[in-house]
Amino acid sequence: MKTQVAIIGAGPSGLLLGQLLHKHGIDNIILEARTPEYVLGRIRAGVLEQGMVDLLHEAGAGERMAREGHVHEGFMLSFGGRAERIDLKGLTGGKTVTVYGQTEVTRDLMDARAASGAQTVYEALDVQLHDSDGPAPRVSYTKDGVRCEIACDYIAGCDGFHGVSRRSVDPGRITCYERVYPFGWLGVLSRTPPVDHELIYANHERGFALCSMRNEMLSRYYVQCPLDDKVEQWSDGRFWDELRARLPEEIGARMVTGPSIEKSIAPLRSFVAEPMRFGRLFLVGDAAHIVPPTGAKGLNLAASDVHTLYKVLCERYRTGDVDVLDRYSELSLRRIWKAERFSWWMTSLLHKLDDDVFAHRIRLAELDYLAGSQAGRTTIAENYVGLPYEWRD
Ligand code: APR
Ligand code: PHB
Repeated sequence: MKTQVAIIGAGPSGLLLGQLLHKHGIDNIILEARTPEYVLGRIRAGVLEQGMVDLLHEAGAGERMAREGHVHEGFMLSFGGRAERIDLKGLTGGKTVTVYGQTEVTRDLMDARAASGAQTVYEALDVQLHDSDGPAPRVSYTKDGVRCEIACDYIAGCDGFHGVSRRSVDPGRITCYERVYPFGWLGVLSRTPPVDHELIYANHERGFALCSMRNEMLSRYYVQCPLDDKVEQWSDGRFWDELRARLPEEIGARMVTGPSIEKSIAPLRSFVAEPMRFGRLFLVGDAAHIVPPTGAKGLNLAASDVHTLYKVLCERYRTGDVDVLDRYSELSLRRIWKAERFSWWMTSLLHKLDDDVFAHRIRLAELDYLAGSQAGRTTIAENYVGLPYEWRD
């Protein structure tokens, strides 16, 4: 087989890149280790920056999001028994975010791809990259017991944090920066109306809490928990009690509870691999970087990488100029590090890091300062709605 771009991974990064390239006449094949059902079974965040919303429309996969997604013009920060609204729209000259689950984004991209007729190979096992430094890279894999090979011009490693693409790079050529946080998030999905029409991020001396949602009858809640906790230790009753205790009284009192339909504990990590291009291999999304979920930036960063890569590849094929490919890593990393900083900062500001009561009071003072300052609120808002993409036409 032969294609222009071999894409490894059919998560949001791989599917979005595949659609955008296809729309611009650049042939591509996606290789995914799992089944479509498995990919759709992963529950992830769902706060989309305007840049990602625009990109989904450009990819021809934005129609249902426009209908069923919810535009949020602000969110709540709660601390010290009070709740302060961050007016995203007012503070950013009209920018908003869209709440639409990653599962739905992935489903829409899968449907768009199926409709376009472009090829996706699910259950492609033992994917291996060959000669990605030379002029003629190849990707091999096993499907239904048969070893297959694709010759291509470029390889896009969209295979997530645990994928094969980053691991296939000589460790001497890649630098990894990492911070692992000493706590996790216990997440619960429940068929209950969300406690508020906007998200609530809560700092509390018992630990962080987040109230989010998927739609009018589906809520997503999180509480900070010790990393070694097991979900079995968290009955639904214990979870609701803990969540309520971390919210301002009035909000906790109106929260509707019900049986959980999903419950899981996730660790938090900051991670960046540099550079993101190795010859004809490009790392994209979670394959190159991870953020803690506090700023809702994971999926949005994947989208901005895809934007940059699809623009440089379009330029490369349109003009024949290969030097433009050099810009991918630098442009992507500039935006990634700013989102890494914001996610790390939000995490540090809102979580209980230790039993240090002095540190807790300092965080409360910082929140009080931010809430009382136009500059403070603006800095939160402009980062939350998403900084501008670095590539400009
Ligand atoms: N071969 C083929 N496919 C692979 C391999 C492999 N060796 N390893 C992993 N994959 C697939 C995974 O099964 C998964 O479907 O690559 C895909 C990677 O998808 P994600 O982990 O979702 O990563 P990405 O597409 O970059 O999405 C960005 O944003 O909100 C965040 O972390 C969240 O998934 C989200 C991410
Ligand atoms: C979610 O809805 O799962 C969610 C929302 C915002 C975040 C993290 C997760 O910051």
